[in-house]
Amino acid sequence: MRTQVAIIGAGPAGLLLGRLLERTGIANVILERRSPDYVLSRIRAGVLEHGARDLLNQAGVGARMEAEGLAHHGVAIAFHGAQHRIDFHALIGREVMVYGQTEITHDLMDARTASGGGTIYDAEDVTPVDFDTPHPHLTWRKDGRTHRLDSDFIAGCDGFHGVSRASVPAAAVRNFERVYPFGWLGVLVDRPPVSDELIYAAHDRGFALCSMRSRTRSRYYVQCEADADPANWSATAFWDELRRRLPAAAAEALQTGQSIEKSVAPLRSFVAEPMRFGRLFLAGDAAHIVPPTGAKGLNLAIGDVARLAGALSEHYTERSDAGLDAYSVQALARVWQAERFSWWMPTMLPRFPDLPGFEQRMQAAEFAALVGSRAAQQAMSEIYTGLPMASAESGRVVSRR
Ligand code: FAD
Ligand code: PHB
Repeated sequence: MRTQVAIIGAGPAGLLLGRLLERTGIANVILERRSPDYVLSRIRAGVLEHGARDLLNQAGVGARMEAEGLAHHGVAIAFHGAQHRIDFHALIGREVMVYGQTEITHDLMDARTASGGGTIYDAEDVTPVDFDTPHPHLTWRKDGRTHRLDSDFIAGCDGFHGVSRASVPAAAVRNFERVYPFGWLGVLVDRPPVSDELIYAAHDRGFALCSMRSRTRSRYYVQCEADADPANWSATAFWDELRRRLPAAAAEALQTGQSIEKSVAPLRSFVAEPMRFGRLFLAGDAAHIVPPTGAKGLNLAIGDVARLAGALSEHYTERSDAGLDAYSVQALARVWQAERFSWWMPTMLPRFPDLPGFEQRMQAAEFAALVGSRAAQQAMSEIYTGLPMASAESGRVVSRR
């Protein structure tokens, strides 16, 4: 088999890259090690930056998001009882879109099926080969046979535990990492959210987040031990703990119910540099992880593939490799801004075990600095609602508004 771009991973990064390439006439095949049902069963992100929303619309996969997603004009931050609303719309005239990653993945899968794009699910032992030569290819096993796909380029969109980054010689990559001493226990429930907007809540017992997927489906998180087993958290224990950590009005409004999904996410900041190794390009969680506090992971993945699609389009249609050559440096500049923001939010909100008194006062001072300054709130709003996003057609920055 032969294609122009071989994509590893059918998460949001891989599927969106496939979609963007297809729209500019670039042939591609996606290889995914799991089944479609498994991919759709992972409950992850919920908040889209305005640029990510624009891009999904440009890619022709935004109709259901526009019909069913919830545009949010602000978020609430509760700090040990005090609550403050960050009004993005009033501060900088922007908003975010609440629409689940599962739904985006669904929409992208449907679009790919409709267009006849090739996706090979349940592909075992996918291996990128010779990506430092002009003749990269992938091998994998399926149905007891070994297969091979030759391509011009390989896009590693296979998440943090994928094979792409792991295939690069250790000496060629530099990893930057911070692991946090706690995780997030998340529960999805078919009950209306406690509030129209998200609530990020800092409390002595630990952080909590009230989010949602729709007007009837809520997503809640409580900070927990990094190695917590969700099975050890009974429904009662979860709801009681969440209620304790929320401001009184939210705690009162909380409607509990049977969880549809319950899982623990570890918190990690991670960046691999560079994001290009010959003809292998990394995008999304394959190259970087952010703690979920800033709601940036999916948005970064979308930003990477927009840039990569633009660069590949330049290569094929304009015979220019300028975008491909600049990909790693330009993508990393955006990644580090999101890393900074996603690192800053946890400096203010969660309870770190045994945090010395000085740092506790610093957390309080951070919150006071934010609520006391319109400029600080504007700065936060700018990053929360979206860093500039590259055009999927050219590499140029389009979404700056
Ligand atoms: P993934 O979604 O991990 O997809 C990678 C795909 O590659 C998977 O389908 C995997 O099965 C496949 N794969 C892996 N290895 C191989 C292999 N060897 N061969 C073939 N296929 C392989 N982000 C936000 O922007 N906003 C949020 O609100 C937010 N909330 C989050 C909440 C939680 C609890 C978590 C865990 C994450 C959250 N994120 C959020 C982060 C976001 O979900 C990720 O950044 C996003 O999934 C990255 O997409 P991706 O396609 O790069 O990687
Ligand atoms: C979510 O809805 O899953 C979510 C929202 C905001 C975050 C993290 C996760 O910061």
